[in-house]
Amino acid sequence: MLRRFTLDDLERFVMMLTDERVTDQLSFPKELKTAGGAEALLRATIAAYESDEPMVAFAIASPDGFLRGMCGVSTFAPGVVEIFYAVAVPEWRRRIGSRAAKALVRALRRRSDVEELVGFVLPDNQASRRILEGLGFEDRGLVERQGFAEPVHDYRLDLGG
Ligand SMILES: CC(C)(COP(=O)(O)OP(=O)(O)OC[C@H]1O[C@@H](n2cnc3c(N)ncnc32)[C@H](O)[C@@H]1OP(=O)(O)O)[C@@H](O)C(=O)NCCC(=O)NCCS
Repeated sequence: MLRRFTLDDLERFVMMLTDERVTDQLSFPKELKTAGGAEALLRATIAAYESDEPMVAFAIASPDGFLRGMCGVSTFAPGVVEIFYAVAVPEWRRRIGSRAAKALVRALRRRSDVEELVGFVLPDNQASRRILEGLGFEDRGLVERQGFAEPVHDYRLDLGG
């Protein structure tokens, strides 16, 4: 299930954002990948839910609310939304990432202002590539992308306006 973050998620959130197995796959700036940076990001994310400019990031949680991962969106270009997701390492390979990405895409399909989704994935990230391909994203090939050490696959899903 996807829900808003709360400060109860702090410990698990910091654990995830300071784990290189997770963060090496994300384009987050280096300063967010420290305990202090992760805490600041969580606080800013929670504060932004109530603002006009929400940074839309959600917690992936177990039915009893325990933080298992995170996912979110950002505006890439007018009508084009970038999606990202990450799962805490102890929870990998339980289809949590697949289910969260599916829920995110389903929610974005309901937004009339979103025409296309994009996801950037490092070549070795087989799990993420499987997830996007399973959702019907098309691999447009490798592109340079700020925040990544090497070219990433540019996956697109046309939502058909
Ligand atoms: C990518 C990530 C979210 C996947 O989460 P997950 O819950 O472990 O993934 P799932 O269990 O839903 O598996 C998804 C698919 O990948 C496959 N897979 C999972 N781990 C794999 C691995 N290490 N190697 C190869 N395939 C793998 C699964 O078999 C499944 O394939 P299928 O749909 O054909 O059966 C998780 O590995 C992660 O957080 N990675 C770091 C952050 C990241 O890469 N984010 C994505 C950047 S956009």
